[in-house]
Amino acid sequence: MYTQSMSVPDEAGSRVVQPLPSTEPADRMARFDARIDADGRIEPQDWMPEAYRKTLVRQISQHAHSEIVGMLPEGNWISRAPSLKRKAILIAKVQDEGGHGLYLYSAAETLGTSRDEMLNALHTGRAKYSSIFNYPTLTWADVGVIGWLVDGAAIMNQVPLCRCSYGPYARAMVRICKEESFHQRQGYEALMVMMRGTPAQREMVQDAVNRWWWKCLAMFGPPDTDSPNSAQGMRWGIKRVSNDDLRQQFVDATVPQAQLLGVSLPDPLLKWNEERQHYDYGPVDWDEFWHTVNGHGPYNKERLATRVKAHNEGAWVREAALAHARKMQERTLREAA
Ligand SMILES: [Fe+2]
Ligand SMILES: [Fe+2]
Repeated sequence: MYTQSMSVPDEAGSRVVQPLPSTEPADRMARFDARIDADGRIEPQDWMPEAYRKTLVRQISQHAHSEIVGMLPEGNWISRAPSLKRKAILIAKVQDEGGHGLYLYSAAETLGTSRDEMLNALHTGRAKYSSIFNYPTLTWADVGVIGWLVDGAAIMNQVPLCRCSYGPYARAMVRICKEESFHQRQGYEALMVMMRGTPAQREMVQDAVNRWWWKCLAMFGPPDTDSPNSAQGMRWGIKRVSNDDLRQQFVDATVPQAQLLGVSLPDPLLKWNEERQHYDYGPVDWDEFWHTVNGHGPYNKERLATRVKAHNEGAWVREAALAHARKMQERTLREAA
């Protein structure tokens, strides 16, 4: 799952993608532009401007990082799920997120950056991931709300990526979106069950909604007026819908779901606007968003430390897989000789 950091630079400070270098040979550039204009796909073997390649590596790797860091807040609840059924669902969901990371690292590798390089950037704090995962999951209701709202926001953002101009990314997103849809539904269903339970359970759901709502709105990234990368991303067919339009779609889709669930959304300015045919909503706290994006959220350090620890502890698995692959290759060569 994932969203906003895709338009956020990895290194703090620079917030604008470099303009297209003027040194690109004109005919190759013209062919690339024509393919983009015709809504065609760019494939790994095709020539592409360096800035397009760099933007995609940054976006797809940040997306991949978000998938695997996103496993952590919910993974903490696997051993504490309230029933065997909930545990099985949660294990499947967390495993899906690991799979999403796998497809996305593979897609990014087709652009010429190795997985080791990408993981190294994550583990040394140079790469960003979705800052939604830098908050704690305090109760079981948080697991339901993450499925409903966080995965819900991710779907809103990711469905347009199935039409991304870069083929491997677009194809990976088709499967990811199908799985995210299951994530969203399992979360909503778990909350439905809790809302039919005791007053304490209902309060737990409302509390979780109150804590996650604004963070989910921030997932769509800064307002369009403050998103310098967006226009270039749109031109390249990487970004299809603007941050504010996606955020509005999310609000419009979520309000009726909240009503059905029986929870309130913590925004006194949330109101149907007959003229616009959309819900109006209050201002997002962007200072808090940037504070967390820049590494100072409540769980930034903890998430990164857990990820690095998991990576180090998995070293023997990678070594064993490589040794096995070498053996198989040797056997194939021997048999062919
Ligand atoms: Fe998900
Ligand atoms: Fe995912």
